[in-house]
Amino acid sequence: MAQQTAQELSISHAPPGTHPAYDTPAYESTGTRAPKQPLIILPHTLSELTGPVYGHDKAKAEEADLTRQHKGEPLGERIIVTGRILDENGTPVANSLVEIWQANAAGRYIHVVDQHPAPLDPNFTGAGRCVTDAQGSYRFVTIKPGAYPWRNHHNAWRPAHIHFSMFGPSFVSRLVTQMYFPGDPLLALDPIYNSIPDEKARMRMISSFDIGTTEPEWALGYRFDVVLRGPEATPMEKN
Ligand SMILES: [Fe+2]
Repeated sequence: MAQQTAQELSISHAPPGTHPAYDTPAYESTGTRAPKQPLIILPHTLSELTGPVYGHDKAKAEEADLTRQHKGEPLGERIIVTGRILDENGTPVANSLVEIWQANAAGRYIHVVDQHPAPLDPNFTGAGRCVTDAQGSYRFVTIKPGAYPWRNHHNAWRPAHIHFSMFGPSFVSRLVTQMYFPGDPLLALDPIYNSIPDEKARMRMISSFDIGTTEPEWALGYRFDVVLRGPEATPMEKN
């Protein structure tokens, strides 16, 4: 890797409309945290383009099963979420750390800020991680998250979603996004989902139900492939 120049490793960017604008009026809190000045573009150096990638050597197999992190099983609908992490050429990204976090089946996070009246589940933390295999594949077993209210506007509810972070091969390929579920009626009303201008890009954040991933008598399966960058990139989460 050290023989490659920064130019050879430079990344391709997603076209306009793939990622959300910093200031999205319908998403109220972006008004106070969006930059008011033009961004300063820093050139990528070899250190950003070649790593390091933290933590992947410490992920244990059981961290990929969010239903087995406590004494009992969490309440809710058990699901399997699997897919591949790809670069802009469609090449699988192997040995890449994938982290997820989510609300429980009742739509509640274990977080001091989340105090809405839905129950916590003593058997569900809502965080997991794994490392992609040689084919760039990851797989989690978890509980389908519930929708939750978020006070952005009157009667505002987030569609069910799982937060994803992928480190990819280097710092600049890190992608943080949200995975949604097909057919969710809240998607059309959600300012975060709709902060992605391009409709096709938005739809890349929706997983697909997959009977091949579904296991009889056990759990429904969903597929969610992630493209880290380039023209088909999965949109970055709106922060
Ligand atoms: Fe969330």
